Amino acid sequence: MKVLILYDSFFGHTEEVASAIAAATESHATVETWHIQGTPRRFPRPLDLLVVGTPSRDGKPSEPLMNYIKAMPIGSIEGVRTATFETRPDLETGRRSILSTFRRKESAAGAVALALRNLGGEAIAPPQSFVCAPDGSSFIEGELARAGDWANTLLSGQTASSDQAS
Ligand SMILES: Cc1cc2nc3c(=O)[nH]c(=O)nc-3n(C[C@H](O)[C@H](O)[C@H](O)COP(=O)(O)O)c2cc1C
Repeated sequence: MKVLILYDSFFGHTEEVASAIAAATESHATVETWHIQGTPRRFPRPLDLLVVGTPSRDGKPSEPLMNYIKAMPIGSIEGVRTATFETRPDLETGRRSILSTFRRKESAAGAVALALRNLGGEAIAPPQSFVCAPDGSSFIEGELARAGDWANTLLSGQTASSDQAS
């Protein structure tokens, strides 16, 4: 089984989740982890699962990630199973100063899922959020382990086949 984890990350949180997913799955699959910067747009084929991660930026995916996806050749992920995730601070308990800056709750991962679907990808799980501590400095306890568990459910096909990006 071949898995590609594609992500953007400004401060390292999304990269940490991508690494946790890779570490959790590499005993069951051949896994490549690509930061969008400087990576080729020609994906390994056959590709069984494409996992795409983004930071939430004003409630949207990162602009470089969306530009990368938009520039992907038509058909490059036709029929490929996909799953998307975002990282964001805990908006419920975050400090007021942070909440006033990062108060957008729209699903950035949902927007990525839609873009992948438009390219022919087949979402196999609802978009996921992995949550940082209220000050955004690190993940809440157990969150990276949850990311690994989530990825393994994707591999084992245990997630409900669901495309909630519509
Ligand atoms: C300019 C900017 C805008 C952001 N907007 C949001 C937002 O609207 N909602 C949110 O939950 N988090 C927002 N955040 C917080 C990031 O989503 C969060 O820190 C993320 O985990 C960073 O990922 P990274 O370390 O991979 O870059 C924003 C951060 C920055 C710097």
